[in-house]
Amino acid sequence: MTLTKPIATPAFVIDQAILEADLAVVREIADRASCRMLYSPKACALTDVLRHVSRHVDGFACSSPYELELIQRVCGDAGSLHLISPLIKAETLEVFGDRLASVIFNSLSQWERLGKKASARTRRGLRVNPQLSFVRDQRYDPCRRNSKLGVPVHDLAELARSDPGRLEGIDGLHFHTNCDATDFASLLATARHIEDEIPHVLERMDWINLGGGYLFTEANDLADFFEGVAIFRQRFGLDVFIEPGAALVRRAGTIEATVHDVLVGDDLQIALLDTAVNHMPEVFEFQFEPDVLGHVDGGLHGYILAGCTCMAGDVFGEYAFDIPLAVGSRVTFLNMGAYTISKAHRFNGVGLPSIYLRRRDGSLKLVREDSFEEFAHLSGVAGRAVA
Ligand SMILES: Cc1ncc(COP(=O)(O)O)c(C=O)c1O
Repeated sequence: MTLTKPIATPAFVIDQAILEADLAVVREIADRASCRMLYSPKACALTDVLRHVSRHVDGFACSSPYELELIQRVCGDAGSLHLISPLIKAETLEVFGDRLASVIFNSLSQWERLGKKASARTRRGLRVNPQLSFVRDQRYDPCRRNSKLGVPVHDLAELARSDPGRLEGIDGLHFHTNCDATDFASLLATARHIEDEIPHVLERMDWINLGGGYLFTEANDLADFFEGVAIFRQRFGLDVFIEPGAALVRRAGTIEATVHDVLVGDDLQIALLDTAVNHMPEVFEFQFEPDVLGHVDGGLHGYILAGCTCMAGDVFGEYAFDIPLAVGSRVTFLNMGAYTISKAHRFNGVGLPSIYLRRRDGSLKLVREDSFEEFAHLSGVAGRAVA
């Protein structure tokens, strides 16, 4: 539906022009490095996003049967399907059969139990934990001590010496070790580390997947990326994959909200919005202040922007504007395209944001509106709920 009136808030708006521009930038970088590019749909799996993304990527790195099914339904044969998850079930391998281009096992025990269940046409990979940490927050560090993610590279090195037959049938490796990195020094360090630790394993492989975690569009210097990729391509002759999520979609999304009250706090006014950290869970998870359109450091009118749920900590941070906010003012949260809608929930019964696509010509398409019926359905109300 094309809109003639302004969008109703709270809303999540995907901007097609920004999405296409960022997709083209990352595609070009991947091509220069001769990498295959997969999209990690956990970042944002909206239909319109997937359709645009599918024109620029070689395939999709899915985390679950639902994601696989969704991609299949929305994108058809527009890209190959890859499965990477700490939990892979035999039934998933059976159901998706030949449609899976690759499956990446998280552990040796999984590989040994399930390796034969994958189709003969599916490539088998193993996730490696390079045991080289770059992420300060342990909750997001795949290389933390006692990590559940991947086979520790030292164990793999030992296995390659003592019992290489256990790797027979594995033709690729995967690692994913970073989060929102804006330079590639850690990628290069990881490539060198893996090269030193398991050269004989790499020699037996056909491909390697470097995961996501890098914001390609925000990096000033790509030299380390090219050098890291070259280690695998040139020294070991591997096909190299990358599977970004946030880098492709973060900048294209905004959350639009409206001020519904202005409260007088102890030393700052509080602008109460019709959105909540429900809609941007990473703001609460990471305790960061999202970018807001019109915020100016030292601006004349300062506010705490607060969400509308009962939780005291449902606040976005302190902001300042040159123009005062009042009931009815619009507030736009920028860079919300990744891990926003895919993590959003309805705590307090606050409905999810309406979803809009802003087309290249500026027109808006309403993609989806939340409804009480869906809330009721999730609460176990069968059939049509009666208010
Ligand atoms: C295995 C794997 N690949 C790719 C990604 C995408 O990462 P990003 O969105 O940071 O690029 C993730 C994110 O958690 C991941 O776990």
